[in-house]
Amino acid sequence: MKRVTKAVFPVAGLGSRFLPATKASPKEMMPIVDKPLIQYAVEEAVAAGMTDLVFITGRSKRAIEDHFDKAYELETELEMRGKADLLKIVRDTVPSHVNCIYIRQAEALGLGHAVLCAASVVGDEPFAVLLADDLLDSLGGSPVMQQMAEVYNYHRCSVLGVMNVPREQTRQYGIVSTERDSGEVQRVSGIVEKPKPEEAPSTQAVIGRYILTGRIFDHLRQLEPGAGGELQLTDAIASLLKEEAVLAYQFRGVRYDCGSKLGYLQATVELGLKHPEVGEEFGAFLASRV
Ligand code: G1P
Repeated sequence: MKRVTKAVFPVAGLGSRFLPATKASPKEMMPIVDKPLIQYAVEEAVAAGMTDLVFITGRSKRAIEDHFDKAYELETELEMRGKADLLKIVRDTVPSHVNCIYIRQAEALGLGHAVLCAASVVGDEPFAVLLADDLLDSLGGSPVMQQMAEVYNYHRCSVLGVMNVPREQTRQYGIVSTERDSGEVQRVSGIVEKPKPEEAPSTQAVIGRYILTGRIFDHLRQLEPGAGGELQLTDAIASLLKEEAVLAYQFRGVRYDCGSKLGYLQATVELGLKHPEVGEEFGAFLASRV
């Protein structure tokens, strides 16, 4: 039985909502406490058994490649100073059995186009897509991509991570309609990118986690520009589900929208409170402020 071993990370976005922080460095390298956003997503993929990580990069994204590479000078320095703990942190950004592949997306034509850039590496296998902006805390349970891989292994078809959002927020997401109103795993009957609240078919929003079959690439190749004039992954999924089943999975966990300042701050507070080194003191500080 073929398992999902390839994960695609579209990281070419400009990060304009975080300027000037993202003027010269990638938004995916912004830390939540002490770990960059992209590392949370990579750890989630690796925990789900992914061994080939495909990063779709763009201009000013060199820091991501360096982050998952060996850091000779830093490692030698830490070794000489006997800083074993720090050395382990530096070496553990990605396990040695995992392979990192970088593909440059020359033009930012949309998420659908970014995923299509991975076609030659992925081939016709099922693969995962993780958007690092969406930070998912599984609250001590299995990481969300692992939950989704289990759903994939059982049903053998594409799986979209979804959650309910307030109706006034539908224009920020891909929104799915399903055959039933509730249930952890449901069959998707339609999907539309960023509908107006009054036009949204439901309030079930796709968050940045997908497992897709290799068939999606044929649909991505046929895409015409959609919402915002971009090639939308959502539109390719809408086309895919006319030919094969696509499932919506209500994941277990909490999602932080780290593509927005508020979500980023919320994630910082929540993960700061749980941090083994500073959590307790940080909690006392917050209590003194409210
Ligand atoms: C993208 C997708 C959208 C999805 C969202 C999740 O939008 O196009 O369908 O719901 O990610 O975060 P973006 O946030 O890049 O505009």
